[in-house]
Amino acid sequence: MNVDELIDTARKMVADSKGLLAMDESNPTCNKRFAKLDIPQTIDFRRAYRELIITTPSLGEYISGVILYDETIRQQKQDGTSFIQVIIDAGIIPGIKVDIGATDMAGHSGEKITEGLDGLRDRLKEYLQMGARFAKWRAVIVLGDRIPSRGCIEANAHSLARYAALCQEVGLVPIVEPELLMDGENTLERCVEVTEEILRTVFNQLYTQRVMLEGMILKPNMVLSGLTCSKQASLDEVADATVNCLLRSVPAAVSGIAFLSGGQSGELASARLNAMNLRFKSRLPWALSFSFGRAIQQPALELWQGKEANVLAAQQALLHQAKCNWAARQGEYKS
Ligand code: 13P
Repeated sequence: MNVDELIDTARKMVADSKGLLAMDESNPTCNKRFAKLDIPQTIDFRRAYRELIITTPSLGEYISGVILYDETIRQQKQDGTSFIQVIIDAGIIPGIKVDIGATDMAGHSGEKITEGLDGLRDRLKEYLQMGARFAKWRAVIVLGDRIPSRGCIEANAHSLARYAALCQEVGLVPIVEPELLMDGENTLERCVEVTEEILRTVFNQLYTQRVMLEGMILKPNMVLSGLTCSKQASLDEVADATVNCLLRSVPAAVSGIAFLSGGQSGELASARLNAMNLRFKSRLPWALSFSFGRAIQQPALELWQGKEANVLAAQQALLHQAKCNWAARQGEYKS
């Protein structure tokens, strides 16, 4: 492990108010999003869509890194240039999703465990050789009546920590993503309580597995009222609850925190990130950044519709969303 290189990469991932663009949807997830818009669900259309994203002019002004999927990292532009090369030439750091998805957890009805540890060391080495400099693993935790259980939180935290240790051994910065899902009836207070328990457990496991905190990025959910909760928290309430929860549970040594968007609209995700940075930035030990998928991509995907003639308009929409979040990191976002 080259400690200095890991720390340098982690810092670059959150430097200059830039953030990460998650474009690592698995084929089934990408196909589902295409199907909703009547875009053909084929490898060619997935490739064309990803080419649209990474060739967006000036993307590197607002985006520090992109998270790719196994299919995408092996692909080329229509002219034969590898995607990895296009990304590096744009001044963007390539990363890769390395978990193989969440599956039902045995003995824990309604809960999930993420798989992908078997053979992971060799897969990580291959991705590093291909040019990736960071990786991502997502744990999915459902918030319900009597869940998450301790068993589910501990198993997912343990997997995240073992993945993170392997990444650092190989020379990749791990993005550690424990996602508490936002769809539910829960109050903001319950989301605070559960998110804090998850993060404390994750950092315990990261310590036990000897993960170097300076060489990782945390990718948490924002603390929100559940989507179907009758009382929706205001921007300031979300900002206060999220930042206070993180201050209680995330060590100051962590280089950066980059939120997932989790199904929030682009506007809300930017406005909430903006409120956090506006109110707290000068008092925080870590950068508060973004690693959004849908909140950056959705308008572009809807404009594209799988048609070559719409590529420019889609790229402009993508760049606009990236710029909004770059502004939100500085507390300067205006909807
Ligand atoms: P969303 O921002 O769409 O939640 O995607 C981020 C991500 O990478 C989920 O793993």
